[in-house]
Amino acid sequence: MSDKPLTGRATADRQPHSLAAWRRLGGGAGLALALKRHSPEAIIALIEAAGLRGRGGAGFPTANKWRFMRAGAEKAGPGACYLCVNGDETEPGSFKDRLLMEALPQQLIEGATIAAYAMGATEVIILVRDEYRAAAAALSRAIVEAEQTGLLGRDILGSGFDLTMRVHASAGRYIVGEETALIAALEGERPVPRHRPPYPAVSGLWGRPTTVNNVETLSAVPSIVEHGAEWYQGLSHTNEGGTKLYGVSGCVARPQLIEAPMGTTARELFDLCGGIRQGRALFAFQPGGGATAFLETAELDVPLDFAHTKRAGSSLGTGALIVLDDHACPVAAIGRHMRFYARESCGLCTPCRDGLPWVAKLLDTIEAGKGTRGDIDLLHQHVALSGPSGRSYCDLNTGALTPLRSGLERFGDIFAAHLQGSCPVGRA
Ligand code: NAI
Repeated sequence: MSDKPLTGRATADRQPHSLAAWRRLGGGAGLALALKRHSPEAIIALIEAAGLRGRGGAGFPTANKWRFMRAGAEKAGPGACYLCVNGDETEPGSFKDRLLMEALPQQLIEGATIAAYAMGATEVIILVRDEYRAAAAALSRAIVEAEQTGLLGRDILGSGFDLTMRVHASAGRYIVGEETALIAALEGERPVPRHRPPYPAVSGLWGRPTTVNNVETLSAVPSIVEHGAEWYQGLSHTNEGGTKLYGVSGCVARPQLIEAPMGTTARELFDLCGGIRQGRALFAFQPGGGATAFLETAELDVPLDFAHTKRAGSSLGTGALIVLDDHACPVAAIGRHMRFYARESCGLCTPCRDGLPWVAKLLDTIEAGKGTRGDIDLLHQHVALSGPSGRSYCDLNTGALTPLRSGLERFGDIFAAHLQGSCPVGRA
């Protein structure tokens, strides 16, 4: 994380805070204000005015999601309502949620408590990726401390609001991060996506109204409640509110997680990372994780928010910038992504289960200099036939094919050069 956190309490060190240390940093003020001064509707209005959008990849307006949940709860009648915190971060390149959970578990717990109060949830379940053992341990400890000090459980801070919270360790799978697969996993079922509608806000965990929010989204909530919507909007460089955790990895001198104003450019972020490593030149970058389209030098000054990144032909996704320098072969890089998504397919539908391993194999052949013009034509046909929706049940196939589609468009000459038996760029 950057040394100068913008949303209040992010820290550069990854040691989990104790509750006392968190309070010394001013932690807890957002929750106290929320429960003592605001109605649930007023908090949703505040989150809407702040312009908070989901940080898990989709960028869906957070306030709308919380309103869907309130409407779902009213329709469903008395009973449990769930807030599931999505800490199953598995998108290639993304490591922001891990650091938030490891170093600042109290911030997430506070944000989830405020969110639960606003949307009417009775229980919070934080689903943590299997490999994130330190994060799960930090959160479990922080939950016990919060329970012992009246910040969770019955009648929180004397407000009459009751809430339970627990950590659930994921059994490990990329697809568990898809919200309906996450719900299936919590129910003890095989984590396979379910059809939407009904959306989880109407029928989610055990058929009850449920909201799934990302870790970074909820971690922004306490400071918005404490400092106000205008303050949060003002932190941004564009009209999309607040700050963003940008994780920069790949061919930069110092890969790192940086909290910066929403709309910070890739040029500024790469400068903060000490530039491209070994004095090389930038070749291309993916701005939002493995499933986002490539951008190049011409797009270095695009403000990286949801709207501008989309207009530039890619998407902000999780804000995980994966950088290729001029010695990194894009065919190899796309092939690596493809192998990952092929392995992680849940196997439910044919384009994903059979299509992705087939594409990965073709890419390996081309990268090894053994491909033919016909192989490249087949890849073009495959992405064209898959269409923008991937023709699959969930987004996995669509996302997996995005870097391939964009690589074929932008780096057609490099794909073609591999047919001569060598890579003109080098190996990634
Ligand atoms: P989405 O845009 O379909 O839905 C966004 C949210 O709004 C969901 O929670 C959905 O339930 C809710 N919603 C939308 N319309 C609704 C309605 N009419 N009524 C009630 N609720 C409604 O996107 P989704 O499926 O949540 O996420 C896909 C994104 O996840 C992709 O953009 C991808 O980049 C990202 N992703 C992130 C990963 C990570 O590790 N962080 C891994 C894989 C994908």
